[in-house]
Amino acid sequence: MLKISLVQFTPEFGAPAKNLQHIAGLLNGVETDIILLPELCTTGYSFLNQAEALTASEGLDGESIAFFKQLANEHKAMVIAGFAERDGEKVYNSALIALPGGELKVYRKTHLFFREKVCFSEGNSGFFIVDHPLKDCKVGIMICNDWRYPEAARSLTLLGADIIACPSNLVSNVWGIGMAARALENKVYVAVANRCGTETRQMDDGSTQSLTFTGGSVLYNFTGEPIEQADKTEQHVITLEIDPLLTRDKFFNAYNDLLNDRRPKFYLG
Ligand code: ACM
Repeated sequence: MLKISLVQFTPEFGAPAKNLQHIAGLLNGVETDIILLPELCTTGYSFLNQAEALTASEGLDGESIAFFKQLANEHKAMVIAGFAERDGEKVYNSALIALPGGELKVYRKTHLFFREKVCFSEGNSGFFIVDHPLKDCKVGIMICNDWRYPEAARSLTLLGADIIACPSNLVSNVWGIGMAARALENKVYVAVANRCGTETRQMDDGSTQSLTFTGGSVLYNFTGEPIEQADKTEQHVITLEIDPLLTRDKFFNAYNDLLNDRRPKFYLG
């Protein structure tokens, strides 16, 4: 058995130290094995352009990274947190995976959404899974809009994921349809940590952009059904206990095995 915690909160734009303090407060006293935080949870979301995102970004020697490393060690938990990652003159919309013991991995968002296309470089890490160092559990990572591409979750499933963890800054009300389907069609748990709150920015052309993030952080069972879901606005942590081993047998009746029944020679793309 394994405990996973979904952290839902409202990051303040451009205030990383305050956001890290907020995260520490929310997780105070929480006992868990996986801590899942939203996309871009240190900086906020609504960058105007690539230069602004680059200025806010951090390399793996950054202060937020040190904070998440410490969080992983303190809680003896895998920490998955969205951040703006600097690599030379490029900036990626990334998820840090910090393991107890100090190891770090980084997933770079494959399918950028909306104005992320003018702020970030397209992710080039590809999909991978991470073994929890203290539990028998394989975690695959995708970020937010990756949900719209079933290939992302299927790739993680083919790699052996038991749980797909999805740091998110979701703004629509349709994502639940897709995320639930990703869980059902792959027989994996899908964990979504979404942020809440509204960000309003004056854009370069003088217009105003206001985005309201829809909260509703949720853990889907491998049947596609939600196990527990946060409301749209509350800042809090949901901790749930699950058995990752239940996802390994891909039969869903005596005849049908989800992966073995695939017919790839008839599929395009
Ligand atoms: C999203 O990818 N932030 C919707």
